[in-house]
Amino acid sequence: MNFIEEINNLKKEKNAIILTHCYQNIEIDEVSDFVGDSLYLSKMAANTNADIIVFAGVYFMAQSAKLLSPNKKVLLPNLNSGCQMADMVDVENLKRFKAKYPNIPVVCYINSTAEIKANCDICCTSSNAIEVVRHLNTNKVLFVPDNYLGKFVQSKLNDVEVITFNGFCPTHLRIRPQDITEARETYPDALILAHPECHQDVAKLADFVGSTKEIMVFAKKTDNKRFVIATEKGVADRLNRDSKIENWNKEFILINENIICPSMKLNTLEDIYRTLKDEKFEITIDSNVAIKAKECIEKMLLLKTK
Ligand code: 13P
Ligand code: SF4
Repeated sequence: MNFIEEINNLKKEKNAIILTHCYQNIEIDEVSDFVGDSLYLSKMAANTNADIIVFAGVYFMAQSAKLLSPNKKVLLPNLNSGCQMADMVDVENLKRFKAKYPNIPVVCYINSTAEIKANCDICCTSSNAIEVVRHLNTNKVLFVPDNYLGKFVQSKLNDVEVITFNGFCPTHLRIRPQDITEARETYPDALILAHPECHQDVAKLADFVGSTKEIMVFAKKTDNKRFVIATEKGVADRLNRDSKIENWNKEFILINENIICPSMKLNTLEDIYRTLKDEKFEITIDSNVAIKAKECIEKMLLLKTK
């Protein structure tokens, strides 16, 4: 079966779109309407006229799309594609964290469930976390669930204390400081680009730290010819593909071949086809949770951050 053709036919027939995160297997781009990072995809989910959104990403991303487009059918191809970091905080331990530091605004990374968002003040993504915290104009914030993104924000802001929850991304934490020093020795002419979910000892050694989108924009516009990518494999794959197609004449080397998010890589073209054909698995969210969680994301979107 030609899955690409079948998916495109189903998309037309059902007025569906496919939103794809840059960590997905690259062949899924062939059938995607929008490919990008979590901030970009949440904006696309909020603005679409489609009847069905297929989210080629992880569970919290599909949930966010449903929160922003509650009247649309949102489908996730694999129910097992959870984000390990998002699953590190539940409502009970969030409550304990808040009780330990009362009356402090809580910022939650978009990598969190709807239940967590419903219990936080404002959402952020790795693209706008610094701006969101700065906007709160307060001297203390709680930051959940990512300890390392929180610490990265803290390193950029002097006049606010960022108190972080102890969550982390197992994929990004596989990058070690020695990977960076070894990459410098092997590729002395390369610039090293890292995601803020990396450990701060890794981030400190990188030439540039930014979200998925910021890394991709930086890599494209910077004159250097070689880059080491210290984030998920999908980013390096897409940069190498685009470099070839658009003749940038640049090389992107993944810091370590193991930097692969297992949940992100579950989806195949066949899964996307089955999702569209059978219209499952549909995302549903309890309406009380949904109202509050939506507010948490919308506050971020209203800030019109980059
Ligand atoms: P972005 O916000 O950069 O898309 O990252 C999402 C993510 O899950 C990173 O691990
Ligand atoms: Fe979650 Fe990490 Fe995978 Fe991103 S890379 S979806 S933070 S487990």
